[in-house]
Amino acid sequence: MKHLLAIEGLDRPFVERLLDRAREFREGRVRERPLAGQVVANLFFEPSTRTRTSFELAAAFLGAHVLNWTVAGSSASKGESLLDTVRNLAAMGPRVLVLRHGGSGAAALAAAAQKTCSVVNAGDGQHEHPSQALLDAFTLRERWGSLDGRKVTIVGDVLHSRVARSNVHCLRLLGAKVQLCGPATLVPDELAALGVPLLRDLDRALDGADAVMLLRLQRERMAEALFPTEAEYHARWGLTAGRAAQLPRHALVLHPGPVNRGLEIAPEVADGSASVILEQVENGVAVRKAILEWLQ
Ligand code: CP
Repeated sequence: MKHLLAIEGLDRPFVERLLDRAREFREGRVRERPLAGQVVANLFFEPSTRTRTSFELAAAFLGAHVLNWTVAGSSASKGESLLDTVRNLAAMGPRVLVLRHGGSGAAALAAAAQKTCSVVNAGDGQHEHPSQALLDAFTLRERWGSLDGRKVTIVGDVLHSRVARSNVHCLRLLGAKVQLCGPATLVPDELAALGVPLLRDLDRALDGADAVMLLRLQRERMAEALFPTEAEYHARWGLTAGRAAQLPRHALVLHPGPVNRGLEIAPEVADGSASVILEQVENGVAVRKAILEWLQ
């Protein structure tokens, strides 16, 4: 049984084959329906717009019936555990479980807890969000041809970001030079264990960057104040219009969404000509088709 639980541990040829296949899906060159007659179950213990919807669209395109499960209205809201929920849904016969959960390692637990479903990690706690990193890499690769030697700066709330962890692994695997930037409260020194430079000064971190990825400040995961005020955060670590104007002319601006406009990124930058934010969303459907097909 195949699972997609993390980027860490994948190899470059595998990722490149998956991204090549995603291109075939995006260009409309695939007509097969390899999931015809099968069920893909979306199990989202946390909210989602992009990930859940694009997995649903991808699964439907591949011929699957989609089951959308959320906590509200389910027995999880009465206290049923993650593993009991997974085992009970797996017993109904879906081929794939797409799981988002607030606990790091939840997807691996779900994969180990049953033997009949492939599991896709759609975001587990502060651990990984592999399909997001794959669509981000796909977006950059389509623009550049190759990520080799490209400099990508990831800015903001890395502490709580599974997207950042998956992206560090994926972008480096494909040859990019990655650096992280933000205040020590959100980019703590321990993250140096990821093997990338940690910078505190955003203007320095943006110097010569081929791409900058802003991260959402995950205020719902902050039990204490990790920055003085939103205005100060935006001034020191936000991609303002002034900072965006200092980027190399070819530089791209990414954000996994949802965007806190005026906080980690100025609205005019999010909507500006360097932004590929909606391209990321569009590419997410093609990449998730490739993932679901590979699991068969
Ligand atoms: N990027 C991302 O995971 O967005 P959603 O939370 O809307 O799925």
